[in-house]
Order: sequence, then structure tokens, then C-alpha cells
Amino acid sequence: MKNLAFLVSGGGTNLQAVLDAIDDGRIDARPVCVVASKEGTFAEERARRHGIPTFVVPSKGTSPADRDARIAEILERFETDYVVLAGYLSILSEEFVARYPRRIVNIHPALLPKFGGEGMYGIRVHEAVIRAGEKESGATVHYVDCGTDTGEIIEQRALPVLPNDTPATLQARILDQIEHKLLPDVLANLCKDGGAATTRTELQR
Ligand code: GRF
Repeated sequence: MKNLAFLVSGGGTNLQAVLDAIDDGRIDARPVCVVASKEGTFAEERARRHGIPTFVVPSKGTSPADRDARIAEILERFETDYVVLAGYLSILSEEFVARYPRRIVNIHPALLPKFGGEGMYGIRVHEAVIRAGEKESGATVHYVDCGTDTGEIIEQRALPVLPNDTPATLQARILDQIEHKLLPDVLANLCKDGGAATTRTELQR
């Protein structure tokens, strides 16, 4: 059984979807620890309620290298197999990324490589999609490399952008209809025997 560690910065709805899938037996994994980038996130609260060891390693006031060394020390302690970025907003250092090749997984709320990169997070992504007049959007789960949102894509799913969509309605629909199913599905595949070999790239419409 694989050990999953989660890095979070916000509300933690993706974290919750994965924890629910583990509880339901859809993912054969243990949630071993949650590391938050700041105090007081609801993601941390969700982890506590679930009885998962939680830690806060702030991004502010420290260098990325020092911060990531602290995070890595926690992950090693829990014998982490996969690091899941479930709404984690800080950019990880090259040293950290190199330590976990094809072992760090991120979910991004758009169809990468479009609408990714530095500054493209949260509602800004959906504002940009609507501004660009895109006919569809969605979410992408990918491995993390040294770039921002540039790592190898594992799976994407799409839905139509509706004529009366606002950034907020599009964000809510992508979270509910895509992200909360896509991330658990990808992790279920990764955690099967064979691990990373079972990953696939596909765009489902
Ligand atoms: C999600 O939209 C995810 O794609 C992005 O950050 C958001 C996190 O939401 N990386 P939540 O904290 O899981 O609710």
C-alpha cells in the first residue's frame, strides 16, 4: 500500500475528495501526513478531523530551500511514496523536485499547457479562460517538474464553457464535476501495483 503525503494552502476540497476515496476503498493508500503552507487553512482542519498528522511549514520568511528541506524531513519520516499537491500555492525548489521524480502530483484547474505558469492560480485561471473566449476548460493532473505547471501530463478532463459563465461559476463547476473525481481516479491508478507505469494521458470529452 502506498503512503500519500499532501501539501495544501487553502480550502482542501481536493484533499477531502481523496480522503473520501481512500475511506471508500477506491484508492489503495494511506494518507500519512498533511503539510500546510500557512496557519489556519481549512485543509489543515479537514486533515485534523481525519486524524492525519498535520504540520505547518510557512513559505513566508524562509528560503525555498530551507522550507523544502523541512518538508522533505517530514515526508521522509512518514515514508512517503507520493506527494500530492492539493491546492498548494508555493513553488517547490529544484532540490525538492529532484528528490521525488514522478512522485509529485499536482492538479491544475485548466487544460494545460494553456492557462498555466506563474501567477495562474485560483480564480485568475478562470478569468483568463473566459477573457480568451475559450469554448472549453477543465482540469489537468500532472507530475511536477522544475517548471511551473510544465510537468508531464497524466490525465486531463474537459467540460464546455457556457455563454453565461462567470469565473466563479466556471471554477465551481470544474471543481465539482472534474477535479474531485479526476484527482482520486489518477491516484487510484498510481497506487495500483505497478504504480507510475499505469498512468496514461488522455483528454476525455
Ligand atoms: C483547485 O482548483 C486546484 O486545481 C488548484 O487549487 C485549487 C485548490 O482547491 N491547484 P482546494 O483547496 O482543493 O479546495
